[in-house]
Amino acid sequence: MTLSGKRILLIVGGGIAAYKTLELIRRLRERGAAVRAVMTAAAQQFVTPLSVGTLTADRVFTDLFDRDDEHDVGHIRLSREADLIIVAPASADLMAKLATGLASDLASAVLLATDKKVLMAPAMNPRMWDHPATRRNRATLAKDGVAFVGPNRGEMAESGEAGEGRMAEPLEIVAAIEAELASAPAPLSGRKIIVTSGPTHEPIDPVRYIANRSSGKQGHAIAEALAGLGAEVLLVSGPVNVPDPAGVRTIHVETARAMMQAVEAALPADAAVFVAAVADWRSDAAAGEKIKKVAGEGPPVLRMVENPDILATIGHHARRPYLVVGFAAETQDLVANAKAKLKRKGADFIVANDVSAEGGAMGGDRNRVRIVSKSGVDDWPEMSKQEVARRLAAVIAGRLATVEV
Ligand SMILES: Cc1cc2nc3c(=O)[nH]c(=O)nc-3n(C[C@H](O)[C@H](O)[C@H](O)COP(=O)(O)O)c2cc1C
Repeated sequence: MTLSGKRILLIVGGGIAAYKTLELIRRLRERGAAVRAVMTAAAQQFVTPLSVGTLTADRVFTDLFDRDDEHDVGHIRLSREADLIIVAPASADLMAKLATGLASDLASAVLLATDKKVLMAPAMNPRMWDHPATRRNRATLAKDGVAFVGPNRGEMAESGEAGEGRMAEPLEIVAAIEAELASAPAPLSGRKIIVTSGPTHEPIDPVRYIANRSSGKQGHAIAEALAGLGAEVLLVSGPVNVPDPAGVRTIHVETARAMMQAVEAALPADAAVFVAAVADWRSDAAAGEKIKKVAGEGPPVLRMVENPDILATIGHHARRPYLVVGFAAETQDLVANAKAKLKRKGADFIVANDVSAEGGAMGGDRNRVRIVSKSGVDDWPEMSKQEVARRLAAVIAGRLATVEV
């Protein structure tokens, strides 16, 4: 997957070629990219936010003054939490706005606020493209560092005219994106990130233990996605049946106490992501020998004691990583519990997932999560655990982007 872990912000302008942008999104996602879309008001006359959002599997951003969006993501963060911004189709109007520094809607404000590379795929009537004003704007944008792909020569969809102005084909745009990103440094290079994954096993005796249904799939996928963005990842894994992720140093542990030790020994780090389902309790005195079933004596009584709280310990640690992310597996009151956990544990955000039987996240391949932070709750649609991992890695890269290496 050539674009694995890459975050692409796609701005859709108002033109007939917007229908080809739907295909572009599919091509980008099948190559592993996470695509987020901004649509202009005019773009929504050509394709619907519903189609775009279904294909990106994310919400679509349309309004500069949407209070929820501004609170939660906002045009500045939208423009920063991406490796590349692509405008497809780039209308004559959007080109003119950026060339003159206008920021009157979300799309143009994002373009003006970004510090990321911008790639434009213009599409317009050949006369519009040939107009001295558009020529001037293109030259200005190129001088400002904007890259272009197309337009191509050919039939125009709407007018029956032919000439230069057709948007480049989706696969040409993908190739241009790949070329741009190949030269960009990985966003997490130079960063050290600790990830925990899987369950812990708490012994009762040498053969029996207390455990939970965590499979390690989500935590391992997150470790892999972070490494894909260039981070040096240390994965501390409980007992799981999934293989160690490629390119990730993995330490295997059994118990919560061993996991705590391995995490503390790995400090300092830039970020820590605690995905493991750590057992809250262990048996007070694990027997050294197998507990025998003795006729007439009845079952043994296990006294439980609390395990170390890894998230809370690291969240309040003297060498706390800049970013601490916890997972909250809940079966009820998901958001309320996650909000309480955020405060209590000193985390920057909590990824809350529903692990009720109906939710099916434990052991399954898909996940539906909510990102709970001080600034609010971001509800992600259901997606594969790999996709959750890529998006979370993108969010982490965005947060660390403002911090000195
Ligand atoms: C049917 C139709 C097709 C259009 N196609 C294009 C086009 O391909 N390229 C373009 O630059 N403008 C096109 N326009 C004009 C833009 O939609 C218009 O300039 C709009 O204000 C652009 O807004 P935006 O840049 O915010 O998306 C078209 C308009 C209509 C009604």
